[in-house]
Amino acid sequence: MRVPGRWRRDLQCVLISEDQIARRVRSLAREIERELSMLPGGELVVVSLLNGTVLFLADLIRHLQRPMRLDFMGVSSYRQGTAPGKLEFSRGLKLDVRGRDVLLVDDILDTGRTLHRVIRHLRQFKPRTIRTCVLLDKPARRVKDLKADHAGFVIPDVFVVGYGMDYAERYRNLPFVGVLHPRMIASVPDGKRKIGPVESREGRR
Ligand code: XMP
Repeated sequence: MRVPGRWRRDLQCVLISEDQIARRVRSLAREIERELSMLPGGELVVVSLLNGTVLFLADLIRHLQRPMRLDFMGVSSYRQGTAPGKLEFSRGLKLDVRGRDVLLVDDILDTGRTLHRVIRHLRQFKPRTIRTCVLLDKPARRVKDLKADHAGFVIPDVFVVGYGMDYAERYRNLPFVGVLHPRMIASVPDGKRKIGPVESREGRR
């Protein structure tokens, strides 16, 4: 699929189209339903990590039939550009998950640091089970021994945006997943990355 004209300067290609996402999200929901049906009944608590999951979550849960409650957690990695940084919780759980089956939803499993940290955090609240569901799995960069229970697509080691995922808070509204053009990510001499043309258009954040 061609990159829509408006985004041609920013994106290298469309990695996953809107149609492919829609089909896979429906089949992921079926997979999750099947798995949950093997557990003794009980209310599901879906815990979604902000902000990258917004579109994925909205599409996924409308295909889940069983009763559920929904909660959000905020995890900031203070990343510089596309490089991961130190993890901190910016929003904690509001619901009591003790004895519940938790479905933890994230946009992308990359190094695995985020999900690893969040699972460790959730365990202290004694849920009955914690299952994980991610839209994208990027195994090439994994540093934690972690596998998602449900993953939509396995992708190569490229920086993706769209369908909720951002670069410097931009591109979340794209209905597809695209590969960010490397020229949008400029290297600086100290080895960190800074925002490229995106930044120079609208000033530093
Ligand atoms: P880790 O490395 O902790 O990464 O598994 C998880 C979080 O990092 C963000 N991330 C990305 N965001 N495009 C993005 O827009 C990417 O290619 C990418 N890789 C990692 C994301 O917030 C994810 O939850």
